[in-house]
Amino acid sequence: MPRGPCSLVRVSATPVAVLAVALVSSLSRCSLLEPENSVVSALSPYFGTKTRYEDANPGLLPDPEVPRRDPELLEETCTPVQLVALIRHGTRYPTTKQIRKLRQLHGLLQARGAEDDRTRAAGRGDLGAALADWPLWYADWMDGQLVEKGRQDMRQLALRLASLFPALFSRENYGRLQLVTSSKHRCVDSGAAFLQGLWQHYHPGLPPPDIADMECGPPRINDKLMRFFDHCEKFLTQVERNATALYHVEAFKTGPEMQNILKKVADILQVPVNNLNADLIQVAFFTCSFDLAIKGVKSPWCDVFDIDDAKVLEYLNDLKQYWKRGYGYSINSRSSCTLFQDIFQHLDKAVKQKQRLADMDNLEAWWTNTNPNHCNTGLTEK
Ligand SMILES: *[C@@H]1O[C@H](CO)[C@@H](O)[C@H](O)[C@H]1NC(C)=O
Repeated sequence: MPRGPCSLVRVSATPVAVLAVALVSSLSRCSLLEPENSVVSALSPYFGTKTRYEDANPGLLPDPEVPRRDPELLEETCTPVQLVALIRHGTRYPTTKQIRKLRQLHGLLQARGAEDDRTRAAGRGDLGAALADWPLWYADWMDGQLVEKGRQDMRQLALRLASLFPALFSRENYGRLQLVTSSKHRCVDSGAAFLQGLWQHYHPGLPPPDIADMECGPPRINDKLMRFFDHCEKFLTQVERNATALYHVEAFKTGPEMQNILKKVADILQVPVNNLNADLIQVAFFTCSFDLAIKGVKSPWCDVFDIDDAKVLEYLNDLKQYWKRGYGYSINSRSSCTLFQDIFQHLDKAVKQKQRLADMDNLEAWWTNTNPNHCNTGLTEK
């Protein structure tokens, strides 16, 4: 559930190769803890950056550990030299900020519930009452942390990558794989889970040790690289700390489309419209996705919104991403240049090394004389 990238995987092979493959994938994908995929919502296509991974990539549902591969890709003719994967964290809890808004909504509903016992006693199919009774199971400590499902997302991703590129993920390359991550807890935890997935690949059936004891070494934290937006002064000044940078988003939040939803929701929940605002409504909308992704349950919040509402709320989220992360300001994308430079430098290095090796008569002799730490093998997590 996105914002920036979360992980970057870089793996190099022992050299037998002709082609460098860069795989920069915004990590998503994963699969279900249990096969209860019947729990879906008509709203699912509109959650944008909060979409459940399996809804974005349903091809994985039959077997989340088996990759789907273009049959043409890597067909005998070429061999991958290096793999670079930029990976997001797995499924996570809402942030504390989101949880507080949800609690505020819950409070509104419960205050209303006390005055409303008559209606409820009358047995009206009251969505507001259902929501007031729906347990608020999110607590502040959860603060955007990776959930168990998110660990599974990462383990399965590792298994898919390993079976997609068997030459790169060979046993002898395992020790050269490196992972870099941002310091964000959900990213550190995602990296650890990814390595546990790989352990499972290399040692099926054995419980994974502490990641510090794995051959590939623990993930390295590098915020300059992986949280480039926090280290780009121009981005911070022009966008992040600039009160007017998102004025289009603010305008939409108070515009007629949003007003219609506020009125409609106030009416359904039977709370004063003045107590609602776009931010609260957006969190309520995302709660449908969080409950599905984390618990595999369909929250009554899913029933509050129809498809037209969902389109408006999707637009609100897209608009924010556009101005803050996307094309709205050129500095948004330019702030990632350091990361991409790093990726391409490693790719260039892998290709050069490969070419050098191709010129050598005795590859094996060369490798025995090489410090394995010099290999461009990275597995990066942010
Ligand atoms: C803040 O954003 C507005 C709107 O894009 C822009 O006109 C202004 O120059 C920005 N301020 C700074 C300090 O960059």
